[in-house]
Amino acid sequence: MATHSNGTSANEFKLPEIKFTKLFINGEFVDSISGKTFETIDPRNGEVIARIAAGDKEDVDLAVKAAREAFDHGKWPRMSGFERGKIMHKFADLIEQHLEELAALDSMDGGKLFFFNKVLDIPGSAETLRYYAGAADKIHGETLKMSSAYHAYTLREPIGVVGHIIPWNFPTVMFFMKVSPALAVGCTMIVKPAEQTPLSALYYAHLAKLAGIPDGVINVVTGFGSTAGAAICSHMDVDKISFTGSTEVGRLVMQAAATSNLKAVSLELGGKSPLIIFDDADVDMAVELAHLAIFFNKGEICVAGSRVYVQEGIYDEFVRKSAEKAKRRVVGDPFDPHVEQGPQVDKKQFEKILAYIEHGKKEGATLLTGGKPFGDKGYYIEPTIFTDVKEDMLIAKDEIFGPVMSLMKFKTVDEAIERGNKTRYGLAAGIVTKDLNVANRVSRSIRAGVIWINCYFAFDRDCPYGGYKMSGFGRDMGLHALDKYLQTKSVVTPLYDSPWL
Ligand code: NAI
Ligand code: MG
Repeated sequence: MATHSNGTSANEFKLPEIKFTKLFINGEFVDSISGKTFETIDPRNGEVIARIAAGDKEDVDLAVKAAREAFDHGKWPRMSGFERGKIMHKFADLIEQHLEELAALDSMDGGKLFFFNKVLDIPGSAETLRYYAGAADKIHGETLKMSSAYHAYTLREPIGVVGHIIPWNFPTVMFFMKVSPALAVGCTMIVKPAEQTPLSALYYAHLAKLAGIPDGVINVVTGFGSTAGAAICSHMDVDKISFTGSTEVGRLVMQAAATSNLKAVSLELGGKSPLIIFDDADVDMAVELAHLAIFFNKGEICVAGSRVYVQEGIYDEFVRKSAEKAKRRVVGDPFDPHVEQGPQVDKKQFEKILAYIEHGKKEGATLLTGGKPFGDKGYYIEPTIFTDVKEDMLIAKDEIFGPVMSLMKFKTVDEAIERGNKTRYGLAAGIVTKDLNVANRVSRSIRAGVIWINCYFAFDRDCPYGGYKMSGFGRDMGLHALDKYLQTKSVVTPLYDSPWL
């Protein structure tokens, strides 16, 4: 069984006061027009942390009006990229100054490990801001070679008002992955954080204002997907939606765009990524990688290596060592530094994961370890491994978004490629081998946006990622992400007085 931590520091940690609970529109914190609020819950115990303003269509209208005004007439799109970059650096400084408090907000709200938030999510997001701050004054067009006597060039202009709809699994990382490139190019925006994790986004709105980002440039509308989220997606004055979340909602976002103003859309919709381990791999290293690939962030990560394919020569050893490692994983309070896995984000996800586990058992997969809730309160689940999984089982087809590994045995490279691609998703894949030819061949044959060879989750702000197939389209991170928020305009002028003569 997964182990409890005997650390005591979780209880000693002083939780921060919740300072921001209202919508942030045009530089001010305001109540929702309806006066409605919703509860944000602490998944460690199911208790209410705070009541948050529940934005709806009328609030979205106000936020879009503010963003439209800031885009059409405001300073932000008109100032130099260098000036925008300076303000973004200041924003990053402020995040770094409030590191501990921000890390604690994401832990309370989403059950994420406090230590990781402190060393990865929050400082990494400040660095994402700095990366795009550095790009803000390096966005160039091209000089075109026209076939007749014209001079022409392209301008790369900000797309306009952006709606960012973000999920709950990485509240801070997602916020800055989307907001930073949009800020750099001069867009204005409305951010809708997930209803499970609204706290840090509101704090970032406050810091943005302190940093000197003009009113109306970043608006944060908290609330539910079917109300606030849907209103952003169907708004006639929003020029672009950048969405990360479920495939079902991705479809709704596209439909809303199609039936309103045909706004541009980019979607990142999760996956069912294969991790393919070959006979020549160092088994201990492969076990570590597979463990990380599915259990990191309690499996709530779109690029999780949820289908693990192991070649027959090392399969038995791999299975034994993976089970031992999963049993040793420390589950518990995410503020406890000894803990490796906190609670799932909410009751809905907790129940969904347990239902998938039941399904796996019914479908004939073998439950090797785990499979049950952990502890007697909160939304904890034991690290779970199934063997004898087949591609047509639901647990191998659907994104479970929880700590559930599916293990499968294969014989040949061709078989690994074919089975690895047997999914409607295409977000990521991992390959573990010492054979360069195999690594090259498999990485070119798997249809996915990112391939990790002998590593996993090797993210970097300079490394674009996004989906093939039903994992969506558009790339976050890297300089490619700037393209999501830019338009290209061609400008043509005669070289001589009368070019048509
Ligand atoms: P979801 O897709 O409902 O939520 C993501 C965001 O979309 C939230 O901000 C939500 O409020 C918003 N949203 C919901 N309905 C909307 C609508 N009609 N219009 C506009 N925005 C809307 O995802 P949910 O229910 O929280 O999680 C369900 C599953 O989705 C997970 O189990 C996981 O498989 C997948 N997921 C994938 C993520 C990823 O990183 N790609 C992140 C979160 C969830
Ligand atoms: Mg919460």
